[in-house]
Amino acid sequence: MSNFSLTKSQQQALLQAARSAQLKAYAPYSNYKVGAAVLDEQGRIHSGCNVENAAYPEGLCAEAAALSAMVLASGSRALAVLVVGNGNAGGWTTPCGGCRQKLREFGAAEMPILVANATELGPRYTLSALLPESFGPDHLNAG
Ligand code: THU
Repeated sequence: MSNFSLTKSQQQALLQAARSAQLKAYAPYSNYKVGAAVLDEQGRIHSGCNVENAAYPEGLCAEAAALSAMVLASGSRALAVLVVGNGNAGGWTTPCGGCRQKLREFGAAEMPILVANATELGPRYTLSALLPESFGPDHLNAG
């Protein structure tokens, strides 16, 4: 099995972790709650939620929080990510531009990024589809 094919149980575990995280989101300004879950190279799942701030630009995205949890637990690679938001009426909740770059640091081009809401699973993307021709650690190492 390739590193990028998720088992049904991994997908279920990611979905459950992201949905639980979404319930904890602190989003009193946008009222847009997001949860994210990351599967690491050890098969563990780390989750995070968005945490907004009265100084609006200081808010933290769910994906950034999940990556922070992964790093804190000594995870070093993200194999898959699942994001749960309020979509899909206005489109599914896909990672914002900044989070795509943050995911790029720890994920391969083929890393699956799944999206969902409280009731259904949405489309599945890859990191390179959401962030083509990206800049990453290799650029610095080659310099
Ligand atoms: N948000 C996330 O946490 N992740 C995303 O993928 C999209 C947006 C948050 C940021 C802000 O707290 C709220 O959703 C509305 O933009």
